[in-house]
Amino acid sequence: MDINIEEIREKLTKYNQSHLLDFLSEITDDKKEQLLKQLSDIDYEKINNLYNNLKNFTIPIDEIIEPLDYYIKDDFTDSEKNQLSEIGDKILMQNTYAIVTMAGGQGTRLGHNGPKGTFELNLYPEKKSLFEILAIKIQEANEKYSINIPWYIMTSEENNYETISFFNEKNYFGLNKDNVFFFTQNKLPLVSFNGDMLLAEPYRVHEVSNGNGDIFESLLKNGLIENMKNRGIKWIFISGIDNILADISDPLFLGLTINNNTQIGSKTIFKQNAYSQDWVFCKKNNKPSMLGYERITEEITNAKKDDKYLYREINILCHIFSIDALEKCAHVELPYHMAAKKNIYINDEGMKIFPNKPNSYKFEKFIFDSFKFFDNITLLRVNPEEEFAPIKNPEGVYSPMTATKLYIKQQNNE
Ligand code: UTP
Repeated sequence: MDINIEEIREKLTKYNQSHLLDFLSEITDDKKEQLLKQLSDIDYEKINNLYNNLKNFTIPIDEIIEPLDYYIKDDFTDSEKNQLSEIGDKILMQNTYAIVTMAGGQGTRLGHNGPKGTFELNLYPEKKSLFEILAIKIQEANEKYSINIPWYIMTSEENNYETISFFNEKNYFGLNKDNVFFFTQNKLPLVSFNGDMLLAEPYRVHEVSNGNGDIFESLLKNGLIENMKNRGIKWIFISGIDNILADISDPLFLGLTINNNTQIGSKTIFKQNAYSQDWVFCKKNNKPSMLGYERITEEITNAKKDDKYLYREINILCHIFSIDALEKCAHVELPYHMAAKKNIYINDEGMKIFPNKPNSYKFEKFIFDSFKFFDNITLLRVNPEEEFAPIKNPEGVYSPMTATKLYIKQQNNE
């Protein structure tokens, strides 16, 4: 092995991460090799800077915050709906539409053992996984428009193998294998609240996916933007794996984005609870952006014009990007955020600890940070009962139970 352990030791000492070698004498030679290889690949300077900068992050005071226009789906007349849908239908019929599903998250809140997409809902009398629910929607769109929508699924190094095995086991849910692509996003080490990198095993640093904003770079790196272009794809729908009501081929949303002459579009829901911690859409320095809850004052949350709230649109991770917009985002640098999450770790005594509350920071890029690279975005407010049932928590809000109820209600209404 061509790895100089003294060099590694020196680096670890410099960045206060020497504890990562605490169990070196207790592990087998092949595990030792694995750990040293991983340690020599980590960019300590980057992690150190991210931790220090984000820990001391202060909100820029000179940003100009303004409201962002939005449409309300229910406000369109039938004739308007038809006109917009016709525009979207055309794109779909031409088979120039693709779907990207972000399934690289850890699902730490849900705590399911395996990729979140393999989580099964009890949809009486049968069970369906989140991947299957999406696959059925794609199959339905394929039949409706006589097309073959390519489906690009973002995984992480942690869950890529299991995700692909699941698709094989389920025979791709009847979809044509040639139209389903998996790509793995990048990863970064987790750190404790003090900045110490965590071990997932005595022989492995705990590295996890670096946020859904890595989607652009990862698509590019895996040759999939090229793949889309070769297939003549013009518009791409992007959503998370866990919203089982996401309308993955909504011609009205697509038509509205095109008609509005914007390269990107996003669905929103109304923020009912003015004081919840949800972020809202806004303009920052004249560019589309999101406003963090710590910046949403009483005045902002209650601001209205012509009876319409100005800052109450919540992002539900349902986006449309043109192929040019997608490619542009793959060449810009998105900032990192630091999120507190629950993650297993090996303690000083070599014991694996399963914390019951957040104990570590994950460094994440967010897809919404790409919006500021555009002059405008088309926002369409939809009804959450119809289009938003995410599965985040084992119980309570946004849980399998709440999502199942809405899903069954929707199925029965159709
Ligand atoms: P969340 O931020 O809700 O994270 O992701 P999560 O992993 O599902 O759950 P928690 O926070 O750990 O409990 C929103 C969407 O973005 C994807 C997720 O898979 C989900 O579809 N995502 C998130 C990624 O693809 N990669 C990431 O690194 C993070």
